[in-house]
Amino acid sequence: MVEPRVLPIPTGLQAPGTAASPFEAVASFDELPPGTLLRITRGDLDVLLAHTEAGLLATDDRCPHMSAPLSQGVLEGCVVGCPLHAGRFDLCTGETVRFPTTGGLDPEGGYHSTWQPPDRPAKPETADAKAQARAATRVRRLRYYPLRIRAGRIEVAFPRP
Ligand code: FES
Repeated sequence: MVEPRVLPIPTGLQAPGTAASPFEAVASFDELPPGTLLRITRGDLDVLLAHTEAGLLATDDRCPHMSAPLSQGVLEGCVVGCPLHAGRFDLCTGETVRFPTTGGLDPEGGYHSTWQPPDRPAKPETADAKAQARAATRVRRLRYYPLRIRAGRIEVAFPRP
């Protein structure tokens, strides 16, 4: 397999505590063919390795909405679809492409209302405690881990404890 490109981390989105961390081999790049996602775990940290159309990257294996494992989503190009609330996130830029069905706050605090796919009936917005919690849930920004390839192995820098 041709050695894949490693994507640069989007500006301002490197995970805290990783700037001076040592790299650790986590997988062979043969384990991550183009278009695939792979979860790796260190302690209580789940990291998503993605082989997007633009190259390899490492980010949290937690949806930036309600922490669902993005490794169980579907990758199309650079965009991963979350299996829980249909949110779609561009892994190459860190941007939200489609807001989750539950609505809520974007990283800047802007409010997004709930929505339903066209094949499902629209849900009325309610004012109960669960609805209020959904409306106040912020989709945060993805955080990225430094990644490199050495001797056919994918290496990632994890945060220092
Ligand atoms: S947990 Fe991913 S869109 Fe809600």
